[in-house]
Amino acid sequence: MPTRTPKPTPTRPANAGRVLVSGGAGFIGSHLVERLVDRGDRVCVVDDLSTGAEANLARVRDRIDFIGQDLALALSGDLAGERFGQIYHLAAAVGVELVMNEPVRAIETNVDLTAQVLRFSANTNTPTLIASSSEVYGKPGKELFSEEDDVLYGPTSVTRWSYACSKAIDEYLALAYAREGRVPAVVCRFFNTIGPRQLGDYGMVVPRFVRAALAGEPLRVYGDGSQSRCFCDVRDVTELLPRLLGEPTAAGRVFNVGSDTPITIMQLAELVIDTLKSDSTITTVAYSDAYPGGFEDLRHRRPDLTRVRDAVGFESVTPLVQTIMDIAASVRQGASLEAEGGA
Ligand SMILES: NC(=O)c1ccc[n+]([C@@H]2O[C@H](COP(=O)([O-])OP(=O)(O)OC[C@H]3O[C@@H](n4cnc5c(N)ncnc54)[C@H](O)[C@@H]3O)[C@@H](O)[C@H]2O)c1
Repeated sequence: MPTRTPKPTPTRPANAGRVLVSGGAGFIGSHLVERLVDRGDRVCVVDDLSTGAEANLARVRDRIDFIGQDLALALSGDLAGERFGQIYHLAAAVGVELVMNEPVRAIETNVDLTAQVLRFSANTNTPTLIASSSEVYGKPGKELFSEEDDVLYGPTSVTRWSYACSKAIDEYLALAYAREGRVPAVVCRFFNTIGPRQLGDYGMVVPRFVRAALAGEPLRVYGDGSQSRCFCDVRDVTELLPRLLGEPTAAGRVFNVGSDTPITIMQLAELVIDTLKSDSTITTVAYSDAYPGGFEDLRHRRPDLTRVRDAVGFESVTPLVQTIMDIAASVRQGASLEAEGGA
């Protein structure tokens, strides 16, 4: 396990301009906003709070501009004609369950918003980071995923692939704007990112396991649990993003972002129980029961991090056990706030 501490995010010059973060009240977005504010940026957040929460921004709320609105409306309304030094576009319909349950909303949100952000950025040639996903790789039948690999999806009748395709369209568009010299866009393909404030309601496995372990309920492992993933702490990810967007040679390129240390989902369930000293048991659930509409899971998914390491240097340094404890603390804090609110 690497032990390096994350490098401090470099300070930006005072005249570098305001920074726009779409989806900044969400899980990854709120951690990014904190980091940008801490280094002295003037940050404007646009978030419609569909899956995000203003409470996620509590620590920096009085130091940011917050527009609690649909991003498309904000870009054509309050923000029309504004200039930003950088734009981070994280707003999206996120998570496999959301995509399975509300496919129209998910496809439209992911494609339309990115198109509008890039048009907005093109007005002022603003460096723009587009959040994509490892889902873009589809089901390539191998374990290690590199940015220039072919992608392979299932048929369009299988809803699951619509998320991957919507993010792939976002990438094509961002790269096209970059190629035409209209936006210095950087695409980040996030692999599994975890940490405090992530919702378990949208099928995210780690917060789901942590909540079950804290409640003493069984941890539900889909399939036999031998499938593996690499989990990266959100604070390692958000340390990287400003460095990547500030690196001129990153423009017009796609980067895998995540950890490359795999763990099986069964081992993860055991680690959560062990770390939280929970009495919970583990039950396996057939995919057909977990997803009655049908779902194709990938056996293994590991990023090749050569490109991001070569570009700006990157290691995920936060131990998984630490992240699990921090998620548990945030779940407990959320529960006590709910109890206070309901009292
Ligand atoms: N968390 C991960 O492991 C992961 C993995 C791959 C990709 N990503 C990508 O990273 C980005 C951030 O994901 P996250 O995990 O923080 O999810 P999240 O749901 O916490 O964040 C998304 C934010 O966008 C906001 N939003 C949605 N639609 C909006 C709209 N129309 N207008 C304004 N705001 C809107 C939501 O309210 C939310 O705050 C997304 O683009 C996602 O696809 C995340």
